[in-house]
Amino acid sequence: MKRDFLQLQGIDPQFLQALLDRTQELERAIVRGETHRRVLDGKSVVTLFYENSTRTRCSFETAAKFLGAQVVNVSVANSSVQKGETLEDTAVTLDRMRADFIVVRHAMSGAPAALARYVRASVVNGGDGLHAHPTQALLDLATMQRHFGGVSGLTVAIIGDIKHSRVARSNLYGLQALGARVKVYGPATMMPAGAERMGWHVCGSIEEAFVGSDVVMGLRIQTERQQCGLIPSAGEYNRFYGINQARMQLANPGAIVMHPGPVNRGVEISRDMFGDERLVKDEQVTFGVAARMALFEALAQA
Ligand code: CP
Repeated sequence: MKRDFLQLQGIDPQFLQALLDRTQELERAIVRGETHRRVLDGKSVVTLFYENSTRTRCSFETAAKFLGAQVVNVSVANSSVQKGETLEDTAVTLDRMRADFIVVRHAMSGAPAALARYVRASVVNGGDGLHAHPTQALLDLATMQRHFGGVSGLTVAIIGDIKHSRVARSNLYGLQALGARVKVYGPATMMPAGAERMGWHVCGSIEEAFVGSDVVMGLRIQTERQQCGLIPSAGEYNRFYGINQARMQLANPGAIVMHPGPVNRGVEISRDMFGDERLVKDEQVTFGVAARMALFEALAQA
């Protein structure tokens, strides 16, 4: 039976931990430049991205190639989507070409789940609207595991545009599954209704977000998903919500700063943090390849 990977909500914590443990091994192998078991030999992976991406699309392609797959990247801008073809018809067309995996990113929440109903291929969610970005959370959790030995018991502060962030939502479910505590802070216009009910602790000040935190995660300001400008200016955003060295003094010793990328330099993360070894955004990128390899391995074995 095919297995899809659409979200972290409801994930079995043991399966999640196994993915993270395997990610650690694969990340070390990547850094050492080792070759990998070609568990996707003879398989084909299609990336179908209706939204822009550098990290996610390239790391899925790299991961699939490391494991021996053939990779086809559909450039939506040059595809029959521009002639009005629907998501369903596009997916079925790719499926009939014997795609084994379809990695999809779409602006509409729920699009990967809808697509999964129509195709034989395993569907992997590369980010859908405001809903989920589950493989981003995998790589984030794997990065935390590398720094702290595990995720259980950590306090993670997520700062910024919580309302529009599929990264924040997926991290929440992953962190909860593994026993971490999640705090959030951001402009009131960027805080979803009912945040406390979802299990987030909503901080009353930027200082509260940093105090006692092991991980401070900034989120990109997502102008493409906002109905109208929700912040007065980038400079003001940085002054009130930016991650900087002074604020990091409030965090726990050994605390790290994460960001899913792409970063608006000097906005979510102040310029004084670039070059500071506590900022691990580039390490996250390598974990992105390893996490997607671990996921492909698991799905191929299902
Ligand atoms: N973090 C992330 O999803 O980055 P891309 O948009 O570059 O894929």
